[in-house]
Amino acid sequence: MDRLRESMAEAAQAVEEVIGDLLPEEAGGAETRVFEAMRYAILNGGKRFRPFLVLSASRLFNVAERCAFRAAAAVEMVHSYSLVHDDLPSMDDDDLRRGKPSCHVKFDEATAILAGDALLTLAFEVLAGDATHSDPAVRCELVLGLGGACGGQGMVGGQMIDLISEHQALDIGTISRMERLKTGELIAFSCEAGAILGKAPRPARHALRAYAHDLGLAFQIIDDLLDEEGSEADIGKSVGKDAAAGKATFVSILGPQQARVQAEMLADQAVQHLDLFEENADLLRQVAGFVVERRG
Ligand code: IPE
Ligand code: IPE
Ligand code: MG
Ligand code: MG
Ligand code: MG
Repeated sequence: MDRLRESMAEAAQAVEEVIGDLLPEEAGGAETRVFEAMRYAILNGGKRFRPFLVLSASRLFNVAERCAFRAAAAVEMVHSYSLVHDDLPSMDDDDLRRGKPSCHVKFDEATAILAGDALLTLAFEVLAGDATHSDPAVRCELVLGLGGACGGQGMVGGQMIDLISEHQALDIGTISRMERLKTGELIAFSCEAGAILGKAPRPARHALRAYAHDLGLAFQIIDDLLDEEGSEADIGKSVGKDAAAGKATFVSILGPQQARVQAEMLADQAVQHLDLFEENADLLRQVAGFVVERRG
């Protein structure tokens, strides 16, 4: 596990540099404010879990690092945008993110909305850019995949269910669907991106998707658990917000103990999908352990 954490920290630092280079800088006009908010929202110490998945999956198919890093940066841009919008007063109304004031608190609501929009659109510019892959069909497939993962039939759809169902008793099937959409789809794309870049055969691609789907749901269940049981210092966000907002989660419906059992079961199940890759997928196997053991 220490080895994994070292690799994750190394990857996080490298991806931070790539993101920094891709973000717009000083424009000379008033739009510089939105550039500052974008930097604030993304260069602020997240775990970089999704970029790590992109890089690890890419390694399975010998993808050139410079290509993998661009896809990793794009995924993190979408993720960071989703956090900025998720924290807005009209959504989860959270003032603390990654241990610092949320983007709308540091800047203002309109700037945070625009910064989120700009991160989202930049992600697609990055994927579509020549440097991401020499084959335009691969770039197109990445754009299609990310669009599906973060749009109405992916993360945005999941966020809609999440918001609309506050103070409603959802059944476990609906909660599971909501969590798969709002978190699982982007995590699935993160793994799939490596397969797309590497023009991996279909069975390998399916296996990775299956792994990531289980992993993504486990990841969100643990996020829900940490909201209930974690500490603000470890998670860098306020705790107890889900219960206060009447969110339907695995924890609200099953209780913390059973929710953890579910997450562990999903992590075990995730690993089973990796058999095809033999020892090449050892890092991804360890990632499943990280997801259920994490405290932040
Ligand atoms: C938090 O994601 C929001 C979810 C989708 C569960 P992370 O736990 O990956 O947040 P950061 O990127 O490390 O801040
Ligand atoms: C967020 O879920 C999922 C997103 C798509 C951003 P949460 O609302 O539980 O994420 P946190 O706990 O605020 O990071
Ligand atoms: Mg939310
Ligand atoms: Mg939230
Ligand atoms: Mg949460």
